[in-house]
Amino acid sequence: MSSSKHLLINSIHHEKVDRTPIWIMRQAGRYLPEYIKTKNKAGGFMGLIRNPELACEVTLQPLKRYPLDSAILFSDILVVADMFNMNLRFEDKKGPVFDKPLRSETDFNNLPSELDLSKLSYVNETIKNIKTELNDSLPLIGFIGSPWTVATYLIEGNSTKKFTYIKNMMRENSNLLDKILDMITRGSIHYVNEQISQGVDAFMIFDTWGGLLSKKDYYNYSLKYIEKIISSKNRHDIPIIYYSRSNTNFESLKNMGIDCVGISSDNNLGDIYNLFDQKIALQGNLNTEVLKQENSIIKKEINKTLKSFPNDTGHIFNLGSGITPDIHPDKVAFLIDQVNEISSK
Ligand code: CP3
Repeated sequence: MSSSKHLLINSIHHEKVDRTPIWIMRQAGRYLPEYIKTKNKAGGFMGLIRNPELACEVTLQPLKRYPLDSAILFSDILVVADMFNMNLRFEDKKGPVFDKPLRSETDFNNLPSELDLSKLSYVNETIKNIKTELNDSLPLIGFIGSPWTVATYLIEGNSTKKFTYIKNMMRENSNLLDKILDMITRGSIHYVNEQISQGVDAFMIFDTWGGLLSKKDYYNYSLKYIEKIISSKNRHDIPIIYYSRSNTNFESLKNMGIDCVGISSDNNLGDIYNLFDQKIALQGNLNTEVLKQENSIIKKEINKTLKSFPNDTGHIFNLGSGITPDIHPDKVAFLIDQVNEISSK
């Protein structure tokens, strides 16, 4: 494999790197005052992600403040619902809401019979703008949600975290659940390839709720569909980063064609890396809560995280989950600085 100009990509491919690359999940977000300002200008979160100029602007905001090693497309995993004509809106404090969730055959049959693939063209425009601005100075990560994780929202209708309806559907009408997962998979395959053709340099699959499933269900309801997406990618050289929260079935990820696995804070990087025979790169996993502590504690925890990974390459530093609005931007500056300094030694 020829070496990339980007530290992040080289580390994913286990090439020699002179320090550990770092980026932060939700790095463009509510902890940044400039983000709030642009979001208000756009008239809210949905207005922001549907506006290619402003979505590009907020993508670049954290890069202007910090020496990060990657940009990530500013959008959301749930916009894929546009293709099924399901209306996504966000409520303050509540998060995503679908007013007509998919809970029965009738709900499913009421969706358009053909996916409207043109609906996400605003994302293509956003990627084009970001790529122009970055001018290859940093890589751009594109992303989708896993069909399973997207389905939890389409079926529950919001982020209840109880998962009552989808669990019910698994027991009582798994055929309908398969049809829903299949539809999301078809939309996602198209969407992934669109993002790749616009030039994303790496691709992340957020399977946030994959950890809810037992080993057998994990394959049948989540990984099986992810495999289909991975094998339908037009370009096999774009590395894939997979992320789920509270996962206990890491062995299942071994032969999926995944290049890097994002780890939440409740796992040890070294343990999981060894489980993968040190062949799959890891991303993570500082607990976001640590950033509320004083700098000496933050530094100690960064050291611990770096030391828990037993190789000089193959690690991308990140938080174990997305950064929250209660983190002070100065703490992020300190984090990035320390990771750069400590890992260069
Ligand atoms: O990481 C990034 O900076 C890229 C952009 C991005 C967002 N969401 C922006 C966002 C990405 C990659 C996501 C992924 C996403 N979205 C996931 C998987 C990752 C995870 O967090 O586990 C999920 C489950 C969603 C769905 C979603 N979007 C929820 C449940 C919420 C509400 C919770 C919350 O944090 O507010 C969102 C909102 C959201 N997505 C925000 C941002 C910046 C906050 C919206 C705002 O500014 O009002």
